[in-house]
Amino acid sequence: MDKFVIRGGNPLLGTIRVSGAKNAALPAMAAALLAEEPVILENIPQVRDIETTRKLLAAMGAEVELGYGRAQHRTTLCCRNLVSPEASYELVKTMRASTLVLGPLVARCGRARVSLPGGCAIGARPIDLHLKGLERLGAIITQEHGYVEARAERLRGAEIVFDKITVTGTEELLMAAALADGETVMQNCAREPEVADLADLLNKMGARIEGAGTATIRVKGVATLHGAKHRIIPDRIEAGSFIVAGALTGGDINVAGCEPRHLGALLHKLDEAGVKTVHNADSVRVISDGPLRAADMETEEYPGFPTDMQAQYMVLATQAEGTSIITENIFENRFMHALELDRMGANIKIEGSRAIVRGKTPLSAAAVQASDLRASASLVLAALVADGETIIDRVYHIDRGYEHIEEKLRGVGGQIRRIGEILPKRAVAPAVRA
Ligand code: EPZ
Repeated sequence: MDKFVIRGGNPLLGTIRVSGAKNAALPAMAAALLAEEPVILENIPQVRDIETTRKLLAAMGAEVELGYGRAQHRTTLCCRNLVSPEASYELVKTMRASTLVLGPLVARCGRARVSLPGGCAIGARPIDLHLKGLERLGAIITQEHGYVEARAERLRGAEIVFDKITVTGTEELLMAAALADGETVMQNCAREPEVADLADLLNKMGARIEGAGTATIRVKGVATLHGAKHRIIPDRIEAGSFIVAGALTGGDINVAGCEPRHLGALLHKLDEAGVKTVHNADSVRVISDGPLRAADMETEEYPGFPTDMQAQYMVLATQAEGTSIITENIFENRFMHALELDRMGANIKIEGSRAIVRGKTPLSAAAVQASDLRASASLVLAALVADGETIIDRVYHIDRGYEHIEEKLRGVGGQIRRIGEILPKRAVAPAVRA
């Protein structure tokens, strides 16, 4: 159980580089299931969810080679010999995005058996819209013993209208429809850049997809798909997390290797809060420029303010002059971090889907624990501005989606180290938690 020890107070200075997007890499790896030939993915982040996906695909018979050394961000996947189109509970329970294999497997193999993901710290997160969409494409869906079974001789093109905008639901049906017989028109789709990136890969594999990145996507099904090479887009949430870190610590950092046009809503909101940013084609510079101002924010589907940046923005609101009202519209239980921030001296009141943040409140170091990926990122940001040394427990959450975050932050002057980083060298028993 690694922990982070962070001493706050240092302004972040210099250039920090963004990795590839976890939420683009996961569907891209699942898409490899659609073809017999190798798919080569570049700019793959070295995060735990990638390793979980490798295990998931390998258990089905896929050959997945994660690069190392100079090729460490490249992954080669060959799904020629799939032996069992199944995703076990053991793997799915550690990463809900594992359900993304359902669509590609039933499209390619005619059947799939995937564990239901179960509940999640941030909300119920059902996959009913995924299943409904597959049924529209002609799959027979049954549920038994915690597993979903999907069967179809060949999927058929259909009209699909999502009752609610769902990112992985759109991605799942996009992959399934790519091999369906006939045309599929999907409406009320997610417009996230990760969806467009997946469509880009699928089209390189021989699919015929139009309109990805908009609310209406057209897919002309093809009989087979082939191998391809594709570079994954940068991680806009990792970039956003570092931009907020720069604004919070009163530093001057350049967040490099990102895609500023994917960060529109965030940069707009930060401008409202008094954060000065300058960006060019692939980087955003954050220059601290006086006190932060309170600004209300509501999370929305893309291109609105991303829910995956809500926790990080909340930390910024604790350091802003005035009261900010943060409304979480996507997930029903995504304020777990607020209680931990209160332990560090913040003044946050939760009222249903709204958090009322009164600032500016000095933060003081404390022992805190992460509950999910983005909550843990917010605790790291809070610790960077808190007075004293904060200990963050359960950082395995952050390793799921941030590549070597402690090394990257140290590179721009953050005082952060990983406990566990020391222990292995000396091979002593892990510290017993109080
Ligand atoms: C994706 O999750 C991301 N994960 C999430 O990032 C992100 O928070 C979320 O989109 C929203 O932007 C990946 O891409 C792997 P949704 P997803 O389906 O697809 C409801 C992170 O931190 N819904 O768009 O699971 C659902 O409960 C993670 O990196 C249904 O009701 O989210 C939610 O309220 C966390 N039925 C809303 O829709 C369904 O079948 C949006 O969820 C599907 C979703």
